[in-house]
Amino acid sequence: MPSHPAFPPASLEAFAALYPGSPGKLAHSLVGHPLLTLDALADLAGKLPEDSVEYNPGKLPIGIAPEDVPKSKLGLVETIRTIDRAGSWVALKRIEQVPEYGALLRDVLAEVKDVVAPRTGKMLQLEGFVFITSPGGVTPFHFDPEHNILMQIRGSKVMTLFPVEDEELFAAPVHEAFHLGEHHRNLPWQDDFAAKGLPIDLVPGDALHVPVKRPHWVQNGPEPSISLSVTWRSEWTYAEADARAFNALLRKAGLHPKSPGAFPEQNRAKALAFRAIRRIKG
Ligand SMILES: [Fe+2]
Repeated sequence: MPSHPAFPPASLEAFAALYPGSPGKLAHSLVGHPLLTLDALADLAGKLPEDSVEYNPGKLPIGIAPEDVPKSKLGLVETIRTIDRAGSWVALKRIEQVPEYGALLRDVLAEVKDVVAPRTGKMLQLEGFVFITSPGGVTPFHFDPEHNILMQIRGSKVMTLFPVEDEELFAAPVHEAFHLGEHHRNLPWQDDFAAKGLPIDLVPGDALHVPVKRPHWVQNGPEPSISLSVTWRSEWTYAEADARAFNALLRKAGLHPKSPGAFPEQNRAKALAFRAIRRIKG
């Protein structure tokens, strides 16, 4: 455990009331952490393998098609150092590959383990992500496969979250394609979705519990922004993913399978069926 916990006791209580299904704000104490300055993050970017770094121009429309995303011309480290004017965003993925960031990630997640494990099973695949964004940048509408706590370190942003079970936003086959790796990250956006969004303001010291696969898009504020996402998977998320993949097989066979249930439904039967098929197929 670190000498200064990342979450005050009241935030751990709040998290216990939210996890795993509900989004909500928490507080954290990582603002000013020496590993999370722009200089430290530029060094981190230089140490990560190429496939763990992604960067793009900012100011993208929230529903941009993948083939329309332009490529940044600035080099990565230069983009980070000039993020106040680069019009870009940078994602540093799986920061735990660099040992001091791995230690930070494990310390932070150890604080929530006693809430997580009894509900969704063992914490698995701990991963950290850092997002560095120019003023006004937009992250398009998408969802992520991890349980996530997003910690705002510098600048402000508004994350707008949407219900995950609402099949008017996107139908079950979109979930299935996602779990089979046949899906681009950005989801198709329609302007009439906006009314279903829950916007949440984040400033330095705020954290946000983003439940697994909650669709969201992000509008950055007028300052450069740094956010840290601490994420994990669980036995529950693996079962949901495998149940979705099993449904994809049923759908290919011409059936109309029922979508996996939200937590606390466990989705075990379909997950076990898919795992058995995967083993047979080798
Ligand atoms: Fe995301």
